[in-house]
Amino acid sequence: MDSTNRLWYRDAIFYEIPVKSFYDSNNDGVGDFKGLTQKLDYLAWLGIDCVWLLPFYKSPMRDDGYDISDYYFIQPEYGTLDDFDEFVEQAHRRGIRVIADLVLNHVSDQHPWFQEARNPNSPKHDWFVWSDTDKKYSQARIIFVDTEKSNWTWDPIAKQYYWHRFYSHQPDLNYDNPEVREEMKNVVRFWLKRGLDGFRCDAVPFLFEREGTNCESLPETHAYFKELRSMVDKEFPGTILLAEANQWPTEAKAYFGNGNDEFHMAFNFPLMPRMFIALAKEDRTPIVDIIKQVIPIPENCDWGTFLRNHDELTLEMVTDEERDVMYHEYVKHPKMRLNLGIRRRLAPLIDDDQNTIRLLHALLFSLPGSPFLYYGDEIAMGDNIYLGDRNGVRTPMQWSPDRNAGFSKCDPEQLYTPVITNPIYHYESRNVETQSRLSSSLLNWLKEIIRVRKKYSDVLGRGEIRFIDHPNLKVFAFIRSYKGKSMLCVNNLSKKPVAVELDLREYVEWTPIEAQTSVPFPKIGRLPYFFTLSPHAFFWFKLTSPTGDTW
Ligand code: GLC
Ligand code: CA
Repeated sequence: MDSTNRLWYRDAIFYEIPVKSFYDSNNDGVGDFKGLTQKLDYLAWLGIDCVWLLPFYKSPMRDDGYDISDYYFIQPEYGTLDDFDEFVEQAHRRGIRVIADLVLNHVSDQHPWFQEARNPNSPKHDWFVWSDTDKKYSQARIIFVDTEKSNWTWDPIAKQYYWHRFYSHQPDLNYDNPEVREEMKNVVRFWLKRGLDGFRCDAVPFLFEREGTNCESLPETHAYFKELRSMVDKEFPGTILLAEANQWPTEAKAYFGNGNDEFHMAFNFPLMPRMFIALAKEDRTPIVDIIKQVIPIPENCDWGTFLRNHDELTLEMVTDEERDVMYHEYVKHPKMRLNLGIRRRLAPLIDDDQNTIRLLHALLFSLPGSPFLYYGDEIAMGDNIYLGDRNGVRTPMQWSPDRNAGFSKCDPEQLYTPVITNPIYHYESRNVETQSRLSSSLLNWLKEIIRVRKKYSDVLGRGEIRFIDHPNLKVFAFIRSYKGKSMLCVNNLSKKPVAVELDLREYVEWTPIEAQTSVPFPKIGRLPYFFTLSPHAFFWFKLTSPTGDTW
């Protein structure tokens, strides 16, 4: 690991993993830290620089671990603190960093803090947000609209309502209480001391609530994260904070603060759905418009870009018209919808079209931001819409054609959830072993494109972006450039072939060299440069100056 690269997160490829879903080392049907450690060589082979672990803390598992009942203890099926330490150490040995989920906003109703707090005379009572009525903060939206009717739930013991932005079994902590603020810093200290490289901070907009507001991204919330950042910078320099703030562009950008005083990274929620909208409409405008809104950002910060994750593809921060486009194009069965979103993995979402999967990854790796991959999407894993909540996209990783997809040697009935056996996505062919043997597989292609992205990580990771304007909206072309180096990226968002002429006069006499294969294309002249692209195809070119370059 290059510890001199202070901005490592700007060049990194991230990979998101639920511990329970990756690999089961003791054959009890649930993945664990020992299993994860055994699969680190795979992640290193793929080119992953940083793993993001979903919550692994003790939990009754009613929201897959986002309902924590002890922040200082590991969920027993996942292993022990020693297993965790060993995992982090082995990851670091391979040059892979590790960040983990940090759930600040709420705890499980089983957490001893909440159980104690239900007694109105206990010192913990004020750790949560209580009210005698359920009418306060009425402007706050409900997030899990399919399950919850209110953000208040009556507690018969406290004889008061308690506040929760997510499930009613996830009471929100009261960040107006200094003890809460300090205790959550202790949680951060506890895990960073064990060697973590940072946190993906869950649900950051919701820490504070104030009457007359929508209770999201309030100044008090930013102030707390500034406090947290200054603690982390002082006590654990080099570790990062990443915000999960599903917000409109201005609010999402605000989490970078002045570049040095809040988050290092934030997920690019504004961009994610718009890549799918652009595909559905065969029109680059949604992507171009949103990127213009989310850049520039401070030099020390970066967006985390992603196509899919462990949640539904959220459509909260798009217009009604955009949401309709998404539902129309991507929802073929009512069970594919959840809350204001679509609960599908990447491959099934786009009907398993291999060109489209590759095009989407090409966008992910060439647009500004650091890419986050979701486990299993590298082998175009399928999903199971008949499992409840978001469990359909959290099935066991498919390693081989063996029993239980090579995930576990337990009896199939013992698995925490069934593996995918739908004929299109069956694990007998969709698995790491089979795909790694097939040179044309998605897995091998992805490994290769990751290599190319890393080779050009200065330009593609840190460079600025300039869009090339031309009348055919189906073609999305842009230049990334960094310290005199330039790359040209051309994408066909359409299901049909296109012919296009791009104005590249700025680069007269330069030669485009195709980045994956190093094949030189004809020199750029004064006339518009002519391209043809097959359906959903893309090109990345390194632009070589007439004097030749050394990069
Ligand atoms: C975040 C997580 C999601 C979880 C919610 C409540 O949005 O990504 O999985 O259910 O927070 O913690
Ligand atoms: Ca296990």
